[in-house]
Amino acid sequence: MSSHRVVVVGAGYVGLTTGACLASLGHQVVCVDTDAAKVAALSAGRVDIFEPQLTELVADGLSGTRLRFVTDVSSVDIQPDVVLLCLPTPMSADGRADVSQLESVAVGLRDTLPRDCAVVIKSTVPVGTAARLAELIGRPDVAVVSNPEFLREGSAVRDFLRPERIVIGSDDRAAAERVAGLYAAVDAPVVVTDVASAELAKYAANCFLAMKLSYVNEIADLCDRLGADVTAVTATMGHDSRIGAAFLRPGPGWGGPCLPKDTAAMLYSARSSGVDLSLVRAAVDDNARRSGRVADRVRGALGGRLDGARIGVYGLAFKAGTNDLRGSPALAVAGLLAGAGAELVGYDPSVPQDVPGVTDMLTVCADPYQAAKGADAVVLLTEWPLFRALDWSMVAELMSGSTIVDTRNHLDADLLASAGLVCRSTGRPGAGVRRERSR
Ligand code: UDX
Repeated sequence: MSSHRVVVVGAGYVGLTTGACLASLGHQVVCVDTDAAKVAALSAGRVDIFEPQLTELVADGLSGTRLRFVTDVSSVDIQPDVVLLCLPTPMSADGRADVSQLESVAVGLRDTLPRDCAVVIKSTVPVGTAARLAELIGRPDVAVVSNPEFLREGSAVRDFLRPERIVIGSDDRAAAERVAGLYAAVDAPVVVTDVASAELAKYAANCFLAMKLSYVNEIADLCDRLGADVTAVTATMGHDSRIGAAFLRPGPGWGGPCLPKDTAAMLYSARSSGVDLSLVRAAVDDNARRSGRVADRVRGALGGRLDGARIGVYGLAFKAGTNDLRGSPALAVAGLLAGAGAELVGYDPSVPQDVPGVTDMLTVCADPYQAAKGADAVVLLTEWPLFRALDWSMVAELMSGSTIVDTRNHLDADLLASAGLVCRSTGRPGAGVRRERSR
């Protein structure tokens, strides 16, 4: 396998994972980030992202000198043959993806790129962005290639090194082959296509995942009404290879830094092109109502009263395996409960006790038992494995009430029932009561 000289612009979550993984594949990588404190920390091997294997890969790359961090493109001392752009494309007020950071970097690259270098967009961008960057770079010898990332937080390194697919969009065959060469050691199907299709493919995939989740959340609502068990329903669906078993767990709504932003950007871009993506719109609308439904369930469990109630909140991150609070459904639910006058005491194994923006709506404790102390109810919002393994008899003793609202069907409802607690699962109206009945 031939080794490439790679510059990664942006050492955030995607850029850092990409740079460290490419270095581990034997490429020579320099990551550029304007945040001097971050560059200093990373150069010393300190990674502040909660991501399995990433710290080890960064340490390996640094010690093998295949990975370095600098603050400025002008300090890059290799002649890159590939430059990867891993910059944020945040959501604007109208939903569109803001690609201005990519555009200004592209302008800056015009005079610095070596001859025949390929510029690769890893960020999630609307169709037309690669063409726009090519125009800004304005160099006929430089091709702009789309190669979107599909990295999930908490399994980003694995997703990079063992992806389910790689998509490379380019109208320049040689550039596409060069980019494919970065992944020569990775065993995965490669879809080589035109730029626009690769750009759209990323949005199409994430919007499909969002629709799948909204659908399953609505099926859970229906199960609650009809007395069916969503776990059995989704298990049956999941055995069908046309549907697939992943992404079928109901929850408090889908969130995080990507799905909300990508669905909004896709809707904006479709609307601007005169296409109504009614299914994606419905998924987004349903998701916007989710936190209110969870708050209503907690209210119902407390006999209709939230004002003055003390509620334990289990989980704050947008999903387990990350410390990311961006777009967290847990915080959306907590905001509604606090707004209705409840006193919240929360715990999340990845979230420290003094995070700004969190502490104004709830007190964060250092352990889950403290969060349960004196609680009228506990609501589980993030599926951390440790919550399953709690001593639920102790939780029952500490609480003043006895209801646990499990928004993710993460807990063993029978076990909780045997500890004297009432577990209100999601889309499983019979869960945890059979055992009580048979006693
Ligand atoms: C997502 C995409 O999966 C990834 O391909 C993309 O590149 C970045 O965005 P991520 O944001 O890390 O990854 O989260 P993901 O694991 O996809 O979960 C998204 C949301 O869906 C979370 O809020 C999660 O809790 C929720 N979810 C997921 C469910 O509620 N049920 C499920 O079965 C799966």
